[in-house]
Amino acid sequence: MTLILKGNIISAEKYGELNIVENGYLVSNNGIIEGVFKTLPQEYQNNKIVDYGDKLIMQSFSDMHLHAPQYPMLGMGMDLPLLDWLNTYTFPVEANFKNTDFARKIYHELALKLIKNGTTRVAMFSSLHKEATLILMDELERAGICGYVGKVNMDRNGGIDLQEKTQESIDETIDWLKKSNFKHIKPIITPRFTPSCTNELMEALGKIIKEYNLPIQSHLSENTSEVSWVKELHPDCPEYFDTYVKYGMWNNKTLMAHCVHSSPRELKSMKDNGVYVVHCAASNQNLMSGYAQIKKMVDDGINVVLGSDIAGGDYLSMFDNVAATIRASKARNILDNWETGFLTVSQAYYLGTSAANKFFDEKPGFAKGNKLHCLILDDSKLVSARKLTIKERFERSIYNRQDDAIISVYSEGRKVL
Ligand code: GUN
Ligand code: FE
Repeated sequence: MTLILKGNIISAEKYGELNIVENGYLVSNNGIIEGVFKTLPQEYQNNKIVDYGDKLIMQSFSDMHLHAPQYPMLGMGMDLPLLDWLNTYTFPVEANFKNTDFARKIYHELALKLIKNGTTRVAMFSSLHKEATLILMDELERAGICGYVGKVNMDRNGGIDLQEKTQESIDETIDWLKKSNFKHIKPIITPRFTPSCTNELMEALGKIIKEYNLPIQSHLSENTSEVSWVKELHPDCPEYFDTYVKYGMWNNKTLMAHCVHSSPRELKSMKDNGVYVVHCAASNQNLMSGYAQIKKMVDDGINVVLGSDIAGGDYLSMFDNVAATIRASKARNILDNWETGFLTVSQAYYLGTSAANKFFDEKPGFAKGNKLHCLILDDSKLVSARKLTIKERFERSIYNRQDDAIISVYSEGRKVL
């Protein structure tokens, strides 16, 4: 079925450049983009057009790192650095997801909120609970979200309420994989981070990754105490990332959140192996982890995508997270004596949208052949002193929170809002 959306079309085909087609046509067929056109080609003339008038039609967002079971603690407990924050606030909240009724309620709401905020693709951490993880996948699927969800593995340092036995963690993971039969939500192997997983568990997960050909997500070099702790736990590994390399968790289907304190060697290995840095600007500031060298990483050719990292991050909206990314890049520039530069709005928007397309085996922007993921933004309630260009309207929409401004969302061609 052909779907034609008409409006002011904005996409980021190249890092730092916006493609803007005023009063243009975004054409898709069975959920696959055919193209963006200034005038509608003859072959589509007889198709029905969904006319969004003067509204903005933009690429929707990919949130490539967030913790679903931390949604109930959004905006709370921001007064401790990472390791104390995990033990004091986070692990006790995640332990509640043993209760499947509670999980259903929270995950239903989270899935709807994601769509409402224009996030249509995710790479998400669940908790260690298999049943709750399947409920999360089911709720995301029903809401129309695409991407990956991981049952978290943790068999050490979680305390009594949030820790598995090693064999149990392996068996539950295999059983979860067998039950993960969803069309748009796929499993991703998720060792929480090196301090949470014994070598035995990591080895077993490495074998599962190989056998089932699965992607991987975890945390890396987020906080200096964490980095020192990993060195103590793994005297055989020169650096943190070697603990993932060792178990076959380091390739172009690997998402590593944070990388604030990655060494030049760690970063070079990320580049050489196509590993993704998931930058979580809000979280890194809230937990006082630090300011990552994001602009430099992108300039050096490393794959960089964005994550809200709720509830280390305090907002689900990727509009907010793109703005936070820009601000963090400016703080980094100040710390670097104004020598390293900062991200522009269009560069940060690219990271929140197109950069993740590669992880989903697609081209940047609204490229022909990509699946249709977009949102329609009605910014007409914002006041202005003069008539604004489309680019200006786009830029202020990134910074300005506008309640209910997202009036429609399409995810893999389906109208989900
Ligand atoms: N490292 C290990 N677990 C977590 C988590 O839940 N959040 C963050 N920000 N870092 C982590
Ligand atoms: Fe995280």
